[in-house]
Amino acid sequence: MTRTQVAIIGAGPSGLLLGQLLHRAGIDAVIIERKSAAYVLSRIRAGVLEQGTVDVLARAGVGDRLKAEGLVHHGFALAFDGRRRRIDLGSLLGGRHVTVYGQTEVTRDLMDARQAAGLPTVYDADEVALHDFDGPNPRVSWRKDGVSHSLSCDVIAGCDGFHGVSRTSVPDASIRTFEKVYPFGWLGILADVPPVSHELIYANHERGFALCSMRSASRSRYYVQCAIDEKVEAWSDQRFWDELRLRLDPEAAEALVTGPSIEKSVAPLRSFVAEPLRFGRLFLVGDAAHIVPPTGAKGLNLAVGDVHYLATALEEHFTGGSQAGIDAYSATALARIWKAERFSWWMTSILHRFPEGGEFGQRMQIAELDYLFSSVAAQTALAENYVGLPY
Ligand code: APR
Ligand code: PHB
Repeated sequence: MTRTQVAIIGAGPSGLLLGQLLHRAGIDAVIIERKSAAYVLSRIRAGVLEQGTVDVLARAGVGDRLKAEGLVHHGFALAFDGRRRRIDLGSLLGGRHVTVYGQTEVTRDLMDARQAAGLPTVYDADEVALHDFDGPNPRVSWRKDGVSHSLSCDVIAGCDGFHGVSRTSVPDASIRTFEKVYPFGWLGILADVPPVSHELIYANHERGFALCSMRSASRSRYYVQCAIDEKVEAWSDQRFWDELRLRLDPEAAEALVTGPSIEKSVAPLRSFVAEPLRFGRLFLVGDAAHIVPPTGAKGLNLAVGDVHYLATALEEHFTGGSQAGIDAYSATALARIWKAERFSWWMTSILHRFPEGGEFGQRMQIAELDYLFSSVAAQTALAENYVGLPY
């Protein structure tokens, strides 16, 4: 294996989905991943899929289990001031909806499809490095089990997440980054208990934000806003459940079923965008290029949008000889990315306690939520962004 058409760095959802779409278009790709497959599958992430995401996954040939097991949600709730209000996606948007299906399961389906098709993936690759992507002959090198490897390619797709090597391989003078780090984190718990409600609840509470989500009718995912440097060890299951209950509306607090956690972790909240997304023959995709705080459930959906644009552009390039899609990739993807950045930042800003926000900040939050609850136009704008803007 010394040459391929597309070298894909990273076997997260972005890299795996890109590999799958390219395979269906008859384009060769090799995926090079730093960790093991088991490690990649152990990462727990969000689980709300836009319809556009579901459609792309179906087109990639990995839609069957998602269709059978995914939970279709026609609405979600915002809790505030002890009351819960439903955002009725179905009636606001003429029947549009989201599908709840864990990102881990999306990754598993993609891995299974890749393995079934016998496509090459290098796991446990050390010292992955990108070379010469500003010229006509790019190359990727790595070490595995002490042996050096080199792969020539036409194009490199940097799908290696926020901490990957692709973005940092670009010279500083060629890239601009925009970042906002929020002054808090999310403490999340996964437990085999029935969800508190059949739809998601996003709660704004004076003790901090809380979210009730789920993976299935018998597996729940809950989060509470916590300090940015919170230590997960300081949170027994009991302490988590007690804190969550305090932040929920009375009906939800009453309905909460608790049990032992299967996973518990603290995640920071960040907004981040790199511009542009193309550097010669290197293209950045997904978390390698942008991060959103999880409040809008946009992370995976944004990555799938990028992959869709890039796979389409590469297909036009390799099978039709056209440069147009490749030349447009960065601007097209960034236009959608910035809108999702705005939405994720806004959802975060109306639902969390901001230590530095002061009284004025809190009054603004109350005004935002009061307006939202009293205006169908405002609810429609929220709903339209939540189910996903068009590609
Ligand atoms: N070389 C090779 N692989 C790398 C390197 C490296 N130097 N650095 C990181 N990786 C791998 C990681 O181990 C990971 O498996 O790249 C993969 C990147 O996967 P993700 O972080 O999941 O990013 P992406 O595939 O873009 O997924 C986007 O995942 O993080 C969520 O919120 C995000 O939901 C969104 C989705
Ligand atoms: C989740 O289920 O993990 C989840 C759901 C919605 C969000 C964030 C995370 O906005």
